[in-house]
Amino acid sequence: MIEKVPMSAHEISAAIPHQLIDQFGRKVDYIRLSITDRCDFRCQYCMSEDMTFLPREEVLSLEECARLVKIFTNLGVSKVRITGGEPLVRKNALWLFEEIGKLENLKELVLTTNGSQLEKQAHALKSAGVKRINISLDSLNSERFKTITRTGELQKVLDGIQAAKLAGFENIKLNTVLMRGTNDDEALALVAFAMQEKIDISFIEEMPLGEVNHARESSFVSNADTLQLLQKHFSLVPSTHHSGGPARYWQVADSTTRVGFISPHSHNFCESCNRVRITCKGELYLCLGQEDKVELMPLLRTHPTDDKPIIDAILASMAIKPKGHDFDLRRAAPAVVRFMSHTGG
Ligand code: 5AD
Ligand code: SF4
Repeated sequence: MIEKVPMSAHEISAAIPHQLIDQFGRKVDYIRLSITDRCDFRCQYCMSEDMTFLPREEVLSLEECARLVKIFTNLGVSKVRITGGEPLVRKNALWLFEEIGKLENLKELVLTTNGSQLEKQAHALKSAGVKRINISLDSLNSERFKTITRTGELQKVLDGIQAAKLAGFENIKLNTVLMRGTNDDEALALVAFAMQEKIDISFIEEMPLGEVNHARESSFVSNADTLQLLQKHFSLVPSTHHSGGPARYWQVADSTTRVGFISPHSHNFCESCNRVRITCKGELYLCLGQEDKVELMPLLRTHPTDDKPIIDAILASMAIKPKGHDFDLRRAAPAVVRFMSHTGG
């Protein structure tokens, strides 16, 4: 007969799968990892015209990114979104997608991109295990697209969307930020385009992140207004579809297209927040709209082979995940001074 040897406290804690549960009882099972602050576009609402990007050594290496994602999946994280900047401009980004795609505990690997590199990379990304993909698209007019993105070519993104469709992702969703006086007259055309392409679209209200050279308060378009406009032209049925995030979805009748609304200015989603964000510098941000963070890069670099200090820091961070964000467009200064390209969309 084999006698059972009692386990030590350390063994017990190692045997019990850790989960990330925050101080309000919310389970964190989704991470958004920004793998670069760089981008080939300079969208008005996201960047200033002359951005200074981080030097290479201040950015997590792709190996460090892979190590971190693995640690998180061992802590119960089952969904990973790779963001940027523009993630696909990072050299060898595909290697990281392939590494993450192999992780056992991972259910969903997804990507947010501006679409500029998809024509070349869509197929390989699908093969690496990327399930779903969000592509930013704010205008279908090439001149306007250039004005909004400052450097982007609409046609390249449209070709990228076609490449993504051919690659066969489970879902493709457009992300649109409407700005009054710039592209707010395109809501209908963009939804019609999504319907024609049999893909989804979400409208994201502009968030006051980073100092950008454009008047946010006067350009703000509320999702309530956009919904009202769309309802005049399309038959929208409330959808039970839930991506686990802040979006509320509507199904366009007689079409496969869902229209989502991400309304960060209403507080409706903080209670069910299931996510944390990791910047390309290895900062673990507990909320998009708050400053609470833990620096993971120094831990990764001082403990290249021992994961325990990193695991402990991540577990401890759950105690400082804020209850909710604090965006206010009327404030003179942005709520959060960092850019979206820093934290990851
Ligand atoms: N407010 C809202 N959305 C933003 N994005 C970038 N910056 C902002 C902002 N300040 C969006 C982009 C892209 C996604 C990554 O984030 O449009 O779709
Ligand atoms: Fe680049 Fe996306 Fe920011 Fe536009 S919104 S500048 S595409 S990171």
